[in-house]
Amino acid sequence: MMVCTSSTVAENGRNLLRENQCPSSTPPTERPTSKSKEEVNKIVEVSKAAQKSWAKTPLWKRAELLHKAAAILKEHKVPIAKCLVNEIAKPAKDAVVRSGDLVSYCAEEGVRILGEGKFLVSDSFPGNERTKYCLSSKIPLGVVLAIPPFNYPVNLAVSKIAPALIAGNSLVLKPPTQGAVAALHMVHCFHLAGFPKGLISCVTGKGSEIGDFLTMHPGVNCISFTGGDTGIAISKKAGMIPLQMELGGKDACIILEDADLDLAVISILKGGFAYSGQRCTAVKVVLVMESVADTIVEKVNAKVAKLTVGPPEDDCDITPVVTESSANFIEGLVMDAKQKGATLCQEYKREGNLIWPLLLDKVRPDMRIAWEEPFGPVVPVIRIKSVEEGIHHCNASNFGLQGCVFTKDINKAILISDAMETGTVQINSAPARGPDHFPFQGVKESGIGSQGITNSINMMTKIKSTVINLPTPSYTMG
Ligand code: G3H
Repeated sequence: MMVCTSSTVAENGRNLLRENQCPSSTPPTERPTSKSKEEVNKIVEVSKAAQKSWAKTPLWKRAELLHKAAAILKEHKVPIAKCLVNEIAKPAKDAVVRSGDLVSYCAEEGVRILGEGKFLVSDSFPGNERTKYCLSSKIPLGVVLAIPPFNYPVNLAVSKIAPALIAGNSLVLKPPTQGAVAALHMVHCFHLAGFPKGLISCVTGKGSEIGDFLTMHPGVNCISFTGGDTGIAISKKAGMIPLQMELGGKDACIILEDADLDLAVISILKGGFAYSGQRCTAVKVVLVMESVADTIVEKVNAKVAKLTVGPPEDDCDITPVVTESSANFIEGLVMDAKQKGATLCQEYKREGNLIWPLLLDKVRPDMRIAWEEPFGPVVPVIRIKSVEEGIHHCNASNFGLQGCVFTKDINKAILISDAMETGTVQINSAPARGPDHFPFQGVKESGIGSQGITNSINMMTKIKSTVINLPTPSYTMG
């Protein structure tokens, strides 16, 4: 197995950590490095052993350590954000590390929901006497494999790590190749908090090299993945373990005639172009009623013209997309739409991986961009004649992550929300994951399982019952 790329990442990671004055006192055994298959086996073995004693650690102690990690993460916010700027070209304004709050909330929520069990008596079911008492509680799954995406290598890693740990699981983290340095810095914060050795491990490397080996590893008891359609392949291969999959999206923004148009415009701008459109919850298609389409397009264009384009270090609004192949893919979608007659509201411009923001008007269903996810700063607009047409387009998508609707009529909004086949519908706001304790889920090719702090804790546990059998009445009487 080739591990050179991942070594480089890990090596660069250490250099960057030093540069950012992250304490380098992590013992070598806990310092994440790239791993061969043999090393992966070893990590899973160590992780399994660490989990056994972690599961016996009292819940309040687990919570205490998580609170400690939360405080350290908050202290390290700035250098971690700097990593995000350097590594994944996130503009400083978008490089918000909200992980500390997420960890604290998770510790508090975990104490509440895991501190409670159920008590059932048998005579509530027909044919039974009151001779059986059932005690059930939630117990950990074992080793959780967490695979976060490049666009949120820290926050989305922590959204998997914290629920796993509070529930008594151990954690193997496979950070994205781009974003590994920031993720390693975050893991270092957990190590500084004093979590037991081997409880949180990192495996760096290209998904194409170690992905299958890790995700099909018999020692892994749960996978929480966020990313692209690789998640579909993982789901097919993973076997009988709980899966949490957050995959792509084609989040639609439906704008009715009675909408607050300025609010819709700001939401399209923020929702479509923040972090250059590289968010699973980005606005990926605008479905606007014909009668207000000209106004919407004109107002969005005026704002697009003001977006700054350039390097993340200058805190530009639009920065280079993550890889050359991503940029090529986005260009392919634009060229296809252009060739088929879409109106390019701005001149298409690209320098390397940097693509200038672009609104494409009069997109039609025969164009790829009507259905495919650009993951870049290009937003298609489809003009619709009826709300039903908008809902139909949204539901014809293979994806179903989020959607949004803009209208002042709350009754209509609720009816449209009910009709949209997506995990979440936002009324009068762009799609978004947060706040992090809200349920977050996709349907169809957008994923399986629900996230959000409570749902993740529940998903990373299983129910264990103990039944106390009392002597039967006939036996006692006899
Ligand atoms: O990219 C996927 C993330 O879950 C989106 O999170 O809505 O906070 O940007 P966000």
